[in-house]
Amino acid sequence: MTITSSNSGFAPWSDRLRRSAIILIATALGLVASVVFGGLTLTQAGLIFLVIAGAALVPWHLHQSVPTTEDMIGARPAETPVVQALVGGMPDAAVLLDRAGRVLHFNTAAAQLAPALRRNELALFALRSPEIIAALREAIATRQPQRASYVDRVPVDRWMELIVTPLSLPTAFGGSEYCILMTFQDQTPLRRVEEMRADFVANASHELRTPLAALSGFIDTLQGPAREDPKARERFLGIMHAQATRMARLIDDLLSLSRVELSAHVRPEKLVDVVPLVRQVVDGLEPLASERQVVIDVELPQEPVVVAGDSEELLRLLENLIENGLKYGASGGRVVVSLTDPAPADAGEVRLAVRDFGPGIAPEHLPRLTERFYRVDVGDSRAQGGTGLGLSLVKHILNRHRGRLLIESVPNHGATFTACFPSTKTPISEKISAKE
Ligand SMILES: Nc1ncnc2c1ncn2[C@@H]1O[C@H](COP(=O)(O)OP(=O)(O)OP(=O)(O)O)[C@@H](O)[C@H]1O
Ligand SMILES: [Mg+2]
Repeated sequence: MTITSSNSGFAPWSDRLRRSAIILIATALGLVASVVFGGLTLTQAGLIFLVIAGAALVPWHLHQSVPTTEDMIGARPAETPVVQALVGGMPDAAVLLDRAGRVLHFNTAAAQLAPALRRNELALFALRSPEIIAALREAIATRQPQRASYVDRVPVDRWMELIVTPLSLPTAFGGSEYCILMTFQDQTPLRRVEEMRADFVANASHELRTPLAALSGFIDTLQGPAREDPKARERFLGIMHAQATRMARLIDDLLSLSRVELSAHVRPEKLVDVVPLVRQVVDGLEPLASERQVVIDVELPQEPVVVAGDSEELLRLLENLIENGLKYGASGGRVVVSLTDPAPADAGEVRLAVRDFGPGIAPEHLPRLTERFYRVDVGDSRAQGGTGLGLSLVKHILNRHRGRLLIESVPNHGATFTACFPSTKTPISEKISAKE
């Protein structure tokens, strides 16, 4: 809208003179004619001209200085703050586009999903998945709602459902503005539940079958031949207890794994100091260490070492790595747990290393160690009460923390498991105050 008034609401002199010019010229010509042909005196004609000129040039109010509804809503209702607030308040990731596919508004969830989204730019620059492009083109061409499913691979796999809804927003002039609403629903948790259910049935039933077979075998024996043999009964009950404990542990581990997997795509945001967690786990494993005659050496920095993490999951990770060192590297007699923090200006990684001096692991096993139920020596692991899920859990916890696991081993010279976490660049004072 253009407003030609000054701030006071009156037109400036130059404007008023310009608008009244024709009236004044016509009046002047009429008066000159009256003086020449009609006997009007020059003084009378001058007075009449002054009166008319005064009336024409008196400051007048601008009737159009108040913005109209049309001005306020604009010709494009999709660009109003109301529509922006609606898109911003949607629980799923949402992007509103104009008829040409240019971004008008998007909410925070959409910005997280597609960081390259920019207002007034084509959405296709930021959303490059072929399924999205096809659904959007179809919706623009047919003006019919479209659905599409696709997998977002970066930074972690996410199964997404896209709904493209063409909208027609009424304008102030009785017309309508055509635009397109895209909403993205994260189907990952549902999908993971399905996958986990299938895996659980396959692996858990296999792992549970052995102790269950042992239990029912011993029950039969206790009911039959060993009924009257207190010594055998005592021994069998001991074995049954161990098998039952193993089954309970297996179920515990599977549940922890499923919990971590379900939330794998949600990165923990809380800042946690890892130093006390290491101390807590080492203290808790001291009895196992002395039972295996292993010394745990702890090398920790003086300052807090902060990562964005979930302290419960970090405890489980530490427990698994240090316990493995104690169980499988016991012959080395020593396990070293060390924590290193990169320099504050350095955006490197926080590294937590667990090193043992036991038999180590042959190179062909290294790539498979983090698979569920994978064990180098199944008998040895079972004898130690292992379920083969520990390193798989460690890997999933690290994935969720956007970290990685390094495994180095030279047979007969021990193994080193290093958990690497992205460093937080937050100043130390803030980190400590945000600590749990
Ligand atoms: N420090 C180590 N030295 C030698 N072998 C190891 C070491 N850590 C793990 N392994 C091997 O990797 C296998 C997988 O370890 P993982 O922690 O996943 O399972 P587990 O220890 O057998 O069972 P759980 O951790 O569930 O009790 C182990 O069975 C063992 O063979
Ligand atoms: Mg283990």
